[in-house]
Amino acid sequence: MNYFDAVKHRRSIHALEDVAVVPDEKVIEIVELALNHTPTAFNGQETRAVVLFGEKHRELWNDAEKIAREKQGDGDFSRTEERINGFCNGHGTILFFQDTEVIQGFQEKMPHLHNEFDVWSQQNQGMLQYVIWAGLEAVGYAASLQHMEMHLKPEWNIPKSWKMIAQMPFGKQAQPLKDKKIIPVEEKLIVIR
Ligand SMILES: Cc1cc2nc3c(=O)[nH]c(=O)nc-3n(C[C@H](O)[C@H](O)[C@H](O)COP(=O)(O)O)c2cc1C
Repeated sequence: MNYFDAVKHRRSIHALEDVAVVPDEKVIEIVELALNHTPTAFNGQETRAVVLFGEKHRELWNDAEKIAREKQGDGDFSRTEERINGFCNGHGTILFFQDTEVIQGFQEKMPHLHNEFDVWSQQNQGMLQYVIWAGLEAVGYAASLQHMEMHLKPEWNIPKSWKMIAQMPFGKQAQPLKDKKIIPVEEKLIVIR
């Protein structure tokens, strides 16, 4: 699939199936390529990622479900449960982090840009997440972007300075595509020549 087809066809897919659409090495390659080549402000390169497959991926979402259930209390948990099951049934998850030590280093070096670095580091995350999301689409994986509370296991040895920003569960698409309203481009674009 070419780049523009991947941009056009990428969607948020919440119901996934545990099928290796491509070898796991290909997913790792996409994440490596994205980490190395997606731009960051001042070439700061504070973006970080963790890829989980199989049982580790399922442990992550089972744990996230427990946390969400506790947070919800006595309320109706069925919608959240269905969503989390959809992620858990997938093939893997990519976790996105920022290395806060790197960001702080830039903020100390350039205090006049302190607040900008907070904003740019979020933008850097979006760029990385999108490159990977479209990359997964290009090889036939469905995915979505999540922001759930979850625990990181000590044995994964994730550095303390890494702050988790988002999660991207992926797998084979297991739901029909939902309609999406697209605001007419004339309302969003001004061309000046
Ligand atoms: C910055 C950002 C944060 C998002 N957070 C979530 C999220 O926490 N959970 C979720 O299910 N979708 C999340 N989404 C997905 C959007 O809701 C989705 O991309 C949008 O509705 C358009 O639908 P599409 O992805 O199918 O094109 C997020 C998207 C972006 C860009």
